[in-house]
Amino acid sequence: MTTIFSDIGGDASSNAPEIDYTVLGRDIMERVETLAMHTEQEGMMTRTYLTAAHRGAATQIAVWMREAGMTVRSDASGNVIGRYEGTDPSSAIVMTGSHFDTVRNGGKYDGPLGILLPIGCVAGWNRQGQRFPFPIEVVAFCEEEGVRFKSPLLGSRAIAGTFETRALDNVDDDGVTMREAMLAEGLDPAQLPCAAMSKGSVAAYLEVHIEQGPVLLEENRALGVVTAISGSSRFTLALEGVAGHAGTVPMTSRHDAAMAGAEIALYIEQRCNASPGLVGTVGQFDVPDGAGNVIPGRAVMSIDIRAGEDALRSDAVDDIQAEIAQICTRRGIHANLNKTYEAASVGCADWLQQRLTDSMQRNGCTPRSLPSGAGHDGMIIATIAPIAMLFVRCGNGGISHNPGETMSAEDAAMASRVFVDFVENFSVPTTQ
Ligand code: HGY
Ligand code: MN
Ligand code: MN
Repeated sequence: MTTIFSDIGGDASSNAPEIDYTVLGRDIMERVETLAMHTEQEGMMTRTYLTAAHRGAATQIAVWMREAGMTVRSDASGNVIGRYEGTDPSSAIVMTGSHFDTVRNGGKYDGPLGILLPIGCVAGWNRQGQRFPFPIEVVAFCEEEGVRFKSPLLGSRAIAGTFETRALDNVDDDGVTMREAMLAEGLDPAQLPCAAMSKGSVAAYLEVHIEQGPVLLEENRALGVVTAISGSSRFTLALEGVAGHAGTVPMTSRHDAAMAGAEIALYIEQRCNASPGLVGTVGQFDVPDGAGNVIPGRAVMSIDIRAGEDALRSDAVDDIQAEIAQICTRRGIHANLNKTYEAASVGCADWLQQRLTDSMQRNGCTPRSLPSGAGHDGMIIATIAPIAMLFVRCGNGGISHNPGETMSAEDAAMASRVFVDFVENFSVPTTQ
């Protein structure tokens, strides 16, 4: 069951002016600021799945989609999907979009840029009364980061038909299950299979996203074409030792869960430093119910291992698992390693990369191809459609997943030009 918010609106007129990209770039930046006001934590950007802030952002996005001349529906996972009708009802769609959830204390552009830019471009086409043979669907994916329920890419999995229902039992920090949170939002998990879109129903998927790194900035380039999205293996590691008095237990008698975790974290750093192209992160490291005068009996940490090459990543994961066993045996610690997510690297379609490169050249941008170390919804959509990604330069050293994340209106304008050119020149080749 999907919810239709409105009919096609907009005052389409064939003599409307061409899209003013300078204005569009500025509008996109302003809308990012407006969307950023939907946050769970005053003074920082935190918008996790199915919170009030998340709902507020979904509602705002639906309004903008409608104003741009799209019909708007939501699916059982909470994706918000705007549809700009085409002239050939039998045509497969061109899908674009990105996610509207964020990490905690993150940036404003990671996700929203890829939603707001296409909405702005569709509004321009709608004002001109311009239609394409294919419908365009802008998907605001409801959950990509996996922060609240430790299960990422939920929205794209729902659309790709690969939503793992066991994730519905995942609990958040307050003990609320994903299922309970969905039901409380009026979402019916039993309807998730209805959200799936078939292979072949999507002609191509193009995501516009900030680079989240320094490459384009250091080379003084506004845009880049993504070649592949790195695969990743993510785990939670629960370590069980023996709590004890900080003042009375001799060092040689301790089974300190946090020290074991620290040794494991340092091994991960050393192992990943040894292989160029491999990265490893311990983003969360907690001592539940800890106290300064108590030897940690428990420690819980996250492990995130990524590489462009799958063999590089899997070799590292094997070594890390072996080292965890070795460290814990030596320290008398029980380890419970739980894989929360794994995805192989995903290549972007060569023919779509070429189309994007052509669009960049037609708009005066020197083409630059680069891989994505960050994960994206496109790696899931790739199971039902060929994918492409357009990277946009980040300022501030390329920082992301950080409140210092930034980009420019000029680059938003340039990305919009290339996006419009890509769509206006799009046709599904007979063989690809
Ligand atoms: O973790 C990632 O790579 C993405 O930002 N969710
Ligand atoms: Mn992202
Ligand atoms: Mn992110």
